[in-house]
Amino acid sequence: MQKILFDLGDITKLDCDAIVNAANKTLLGGGGVDGAIHRVAGRELLAECRTLGGCNTGEAKITKGYKLKAKYVIHTVGPIYSGKDSDATDLANCYKNSLDLAKKYDIHSIAFPAISTGVYHYPLEEATRIALTTIDNWLKANADYDIEVIFSCFDKRTYSVYIDIAKKLNITFI
Ligand code: APR
Repeated sequence: MQKILFDLGDITKLDCDAIVNAANKTLLGGGGVDGAIHRVAGRELLAECRTLGGCNTGEAKITKGYKLKAKYVIHTVGPIYSGKDSDATDLANCYKNSLDLAKKYDIHSIAFPAISTGVYHYPLEEATRIALTTIDNWLKANADYDIEVIFSCFDKRTYSVYIDIAKKLNITFI
């Protein structure tokens, strides 16, 4: 069974197999959702991140969740918005590579923040369309893999944009 859900709230509170962190290339923490995840997970998360050797834009790396409810954190680095065509490809790769890693680790519930739409200034509507399209295509290409995908929306504007665009794209959600 595959499901898409939208959650208005704090991703660190979600009790799912994995939560995705919108990190930076150093993987050594930061502000926004990155800061929130490290604060709740505790110092062991940073210690494990130090062993990963950073992460390129569009790639994804996995660690334990430590004090988080989630068993795993999948760290991915979104593009800093520049308006170049490569931004869309890089952002799509964040979602695709995170899901590929989730499947590899037998993860069946995963929550994504709105990657790059904060400090990295990706326009929300465009980023949401990329996120939903990429996830929908991945689910279709992996139709035999049971997974619940939660979009964690930190504010009402993000939540309503996700729902509006999902409806426009005819993407079924709970
Ligand atoms: N739960 C869910 N979503 C959150 C949370 C949270 N606790 N905190 C912030 N967000 C949302 C933001 O409101 C935004 O919609 O996550 C989305 C991504 O925003 P950022 O966290 O700023 O991430 P991003 O735009 O990808 O920039 C990444 O910011 O924090 C630094 O180290 C990080 O350098 C990296 C950059």
